[in-house]
Amino acid sequence: MVLGSNWQLSLAELDNVLKNSKYLGKIMDYSANVAIVEFDKLDKHKHYINDLMEFQFILGGTQKIAKVYDFIHIHNIIEAFPLKIEKFQEIQKLRKKILDVIASNLDEIFPKIKNERIFYAVSIYPNFFDDEYYPKVLVKHFLPFLNTEIMKILKKKGAERALYYQYPEKNIEEGTLNPIFPHHVIKYGLLNKDRAELIFGFTEEGVYIARTYTCDDPNFKRKIDEERPLKEFKSNISPKLSIIMLNLLNLFDNRHKKNILDPFVGNGTILLFALLQDFQIYGSDIDKVKVKNTVRNINWLLNELEEPIPLLFTERIKSTDVENLSNSFKEKFFDGICTEPELGPFYSERPYYSEVKELIENKLEPIYQFAFREAYKVLKENGRICIISPIIETLDGGDIQLNIEKIANNFNFKLIPLLDINRIINKSNQRLQFRKKQVRTMIDAKKDQIIKRKIYLFEKIS
Ligand SMILES: C[S@@+](CC[C@H](N)C(=O)[O-])C[C@H]1O[C@@H](n2cnc3c(N)ncnc32)[C@H](O)[C@@H]1O
Repeated sequence: MVLGSNWQLSLAELDNVLKNSKYLGKIMDYSANVAIVEFDKLDKHKHYINDLMEFQFILGGTQKIAKVYDFIHIHNIIEAFPLKIEKFQEIQKLRKKILDVIASNLDEIFPKIKNERIFYAVSIYPNFFDDEYYPKVLVKHFLPFLNTEIMKILKKKGAERALYYQYPEKNIEEGTLNPIFPHHVIKYGLLNKDRAELIFGFTEEGVYIARTYTCDDPNFKRKIDEERPLKEFKSNISPKLSIIMLNLLNLFDNRHKKNILDPFVGNGTILLFALLQDFQIYGSDIDKVKVKNTVRNINWLLNELEEPIPLLFTERIKSTDVENLSNSFKEKFFDGICTEPELGPFYSERPYYSEVKELIENKLEPIYQFAFREAYKVLKENGRICIISPIIETLDGGDIQLNIEKIANNFNFKLIPLLDINRIINKSNQRLQFRKKQVRTMIDAKKDQIIKRKIYLFEKIS
């Protein structure tokens, strides 16, 4: 699996799906860019590629899924491609060994080579893109080596023609190379038999050699996000995060029968992606204009998907203060709640501590308290709520946040940690370690964002 930019959150989502959905499996190894997954059964099915496509569709934080064909230990790679080359002859021999491993897999990676015209793109995913080994060695030496040598092997094996995807020279020189994007994988037909994306995914242990079998279609998600009639660019939650949060609710079977609520629906981002993921969607907001916006956006998406508008659909999106939620929806009706409540105003500069303290105490805390009180009433037993709360960076007092856990506990919700480290292997690289045995919450933020999103998961205690 090639992970999205927030790799920790992507891992948490992946582990949750592997633990609780029909796609049972385990993360065997990982870096900040890839996760190696062993499925219990999936790959033994005859038509497992269809299953993989479905699996990819469900996930918000995974960009590509590739089948692993082989593995080379990290020592063998570093000896053959050191940061500083000293004994070149020795190195030639070691590189030849690496090629032998690759050559032994190409007949499986390509169903047919002889007399075929083959095209391939090599994508290298390092542990971290900012490791010095990536620009200095992997991009400058390993990539050109793989490109030309794989071409030679394919020709030797009888290919009529073998061509490789050429990355811009400038990026190779500067070492700022991004592996080919998912939409290019689709554009260049790299999922066809005679065309392939060959992934070299690094972890601390070594490099996994894989071929991409399916990938995300970001254009479609972007279209929903950007082309819907009503949106607010500066503050919207991303499609990726919406889907990840929905997956944390642990509702994988019969999604078309599962009722999902967003009680702070805004322009409806979370509900649009919940609809795409087949859930029954319900929402509410204090702002009547937002309610109208959401209804318009959902109608637009249903039309795009060529799906009929459900009966009494507009009644599913209500205009109500969260304080009165249980007057608008039936008790114990929802299987899950997924929401991003009020996070505070859009700050263009860091605010003062006192200003934020007042905002939290007088405005945000009451909203979150009402949200949990009412969520308890409308959720089914053991129903989950995945909720965002803000971390606000101040000018003079550091970061400030709400004590969501305390509020949730007061209303009979227990925190569900986002990731259980015992399920995945330990890493020696500190940047890849999780500080505690259980990762209770995670943050989603871009650099220099004043309000950061913190993601929490709670379960109703029955
Ligand atoms: C951060 S926005 C949600 C944005 C949404 N995720 C989207 O994609 O557009 C928070 C929403 O909460 C609503 N809101 C604020 N206070 C509320 C309250 N007391 N009850 C219900 N909704 C409220 C606001 O009108 C706003 O639309």
